[in-house]
Amino acid sequence: MKKKTVQTLLADKQTVYTDKIGTAFAPVNFALIKYWGKRDIALNIPITSSLSVSIPQFGAETSISYAKTPSFSLNNTEIDQNDPIFTRFFDFLALFPHPADMTYAVKSLSTIPVGAGLASSASGFAAAVKALDRLNEWKLSTTALSILARLGSGSASRSLFDGFSQWHAGTQADGMDSYAEALPYTLPDLRMGLVIVSSQKKKIGSTEGMKSTAETSILYRSWAEKVRIDLANMHLALQSQDLDTVGKIAESNALGMHATMIDTWPPVLYWQPETVRNIHKIHALREKGLSVYFTMDAGPNLKVLFHTAHTTAVQKAFPNLHMCL
Ligand code: PMV
Repeated sequence: MKKKTVQTLLADKQTVYTDKIGTAFAPVNFALIKYWGKRDIALNIPITSSLSVSIPQFGAETSISYAKTPSFSLNNTEIDQNDPIFTRFFDFLALFPHPADMTYAVKSLSTIPVGAGLASSASGFAAAVKALDRLNEWKLSTTALSILARLGSGSASRSLFDGFSQWHAGTQADGMDSYAEALPYTLPDLRMGLVIVSSQKKKIGSTEGMKSTAETSILYRSWAEKVRIDLANMHLALQSQDLDTVGKIAESNALGMHATMIDTWPPVLYWQPETVRNIHKIHALREKGLSVYFTMDAGPNLKVLFHTAHTTAVQKAFPNLHMCL
């Protein structure tokens, strides 16, 4: 299935052996309107569209070259061939045409702080696709790169861009209309910081969590409708640079996603007591008139969104805030 998508997108491209190295950087992205649920699990095609902002200071810089034996160096440490990270990455690379008898040597440097509880797969797969494109001089369109990155990890489709982007759910069964595009908005006063509650690996992976949510949560039946409304309002808020409305919609959308997760059986509950304590702190700051909101993904950590004018107050309330935007 995935191989067919790759073949279609590379149909008119030549792949010949070169001794060059393809290098590229891709940022992580934080979704303000979430992706939770796949209409095609094999191809990572989502049930709804989603919208994110990229974090240029965190990401992956990946170099790929052809080699006789496979190797994968991550932050200057060689990854064992039996490590799941290695297998997942090389299974992905195996989708792409390469000269017979050749595999890849991969070197990746991540600027994502270790233990930050940030999923690195989005920037990892997006950087890999860009690096392959450079190695082979395919000169693929951003749309094609986004579709290819999506095959590695859904949210990777949004890591091809700086700033805001929207991943369109699309309607086609082959997923050729399910890719991300840059959005023309800017929000110069927006700041973001991470509140790390736990840096442990999540117990329930996103694919598994999405599947059981879609199968068992009754609240999930209203999720697509909520996303449709939140997405439309988010566009209006971004167009008018209305930071408070952007924050409000992002927080409500994240809570809506977590409501469907908690309504799942067995429950997909990523929250820890510290998560709730920090949410109350954010709400208390808001009651004092500060523009501060949060979003959260498939884990207990919070991404705090706030107005640049309130940076000092937010940093005072969260002394361990890890600034990222
Ligand atoms: O791309 P995945 O499979 O890691 O899923 C990401 C899911 C969320 O982070 C929870 C939401 C999102 O839109 O990024």
